[in-house]
Amino acid sequence: MMHEKQEQLANHFSQIAHHYDDKHDSEAKPIYNACASLVIDYADPRPDDVTLDLGTGTGLIALALAEDAGHVVGRDISNGMIEQARSKAADSGIENVEFGCGEFRDPQYNGEVDIVVSNFALHHLPDEEKREAIEAIADLGPRRFVLGDAMFFGSPDPEEPLFGHGVDGATVGMLVDILTDVGFVVTAVERVHDQVGVLVAEQSGEEPVYDPQEDQ
Ligand SMILES: C[S@@+](CC[C@H](N)C(=O)[O-])C[C@H]1O[C@@H](n2cnc3c(N)ncnc32)[C@H](O)[C@@H]1O
Repeated sequence: MMHEKQEQLANHFSQIAHHYDDKHDSEAKPIYNACASLVIDYADPRPDDVTLDLGTGTGLIALALAEDAGHVVGRDISNGMIEQARSKAADSGIENVEFGCGEFRDPQYNGEVDIVVSNFALHHLPDEEKREAIEAIADLGPRRFVLGDAMFFGSPDPEEPLFGHGVDGATVGMLVDILTDVGFVVTAVERVHDQVGVLVAEQSGEEPVYDPQEDQ
């Protein structure tokens, strides 16, 4: 069930879906493109990997990753964006991708997931919900999570926001803390702009260290 704010956001994206791909603010577009390229490069799926793209929108990242991944699952709360993504997949004859409704904390996908990606979507959640979203992603058990988004390196000038639509950009430190808390190791931090970055989080591959104090 979507709450009211989410429903408004979903409707907003459905209304702009048909021209979303050419509508990015001209000042922000090179930054968005640079961020998207980094997410695609770092995701680096293998031919047998299932990749989940959360907040997939019109499928920019999902469709790019479908070239290399075994299967790609794109999830979004906006039906209009999902329709666009589906028609782009059909137009390009890409068959190893499926798009459908799903939310960060309830992606509506029950299969195994090897890699999770998300580009410019998590910032729509307030900070406490970002934590819940990252916990839900960790619960899916991917070996890698690549997050491209609005995130603040330092203290950006509130008078000069890069994105004018109420972006709730978390600080990089806060996101790294959450990723670490849920058991990921942050293996790369890419600063694209003062207010935009890409974080790569991977499973450590090690069992948690046994702490005898916890038994007392
Ligand atoms: C700015 S667009 C980015 C789309 C795409 N990832 C890209 O890079 O072009 C943000 C997308 O996130 C979706 N979104 C917002 N909140 C969401 C949530 N809680 N769960 C899933 N998707 C969400 C919106 O519907 C929208 O399609």
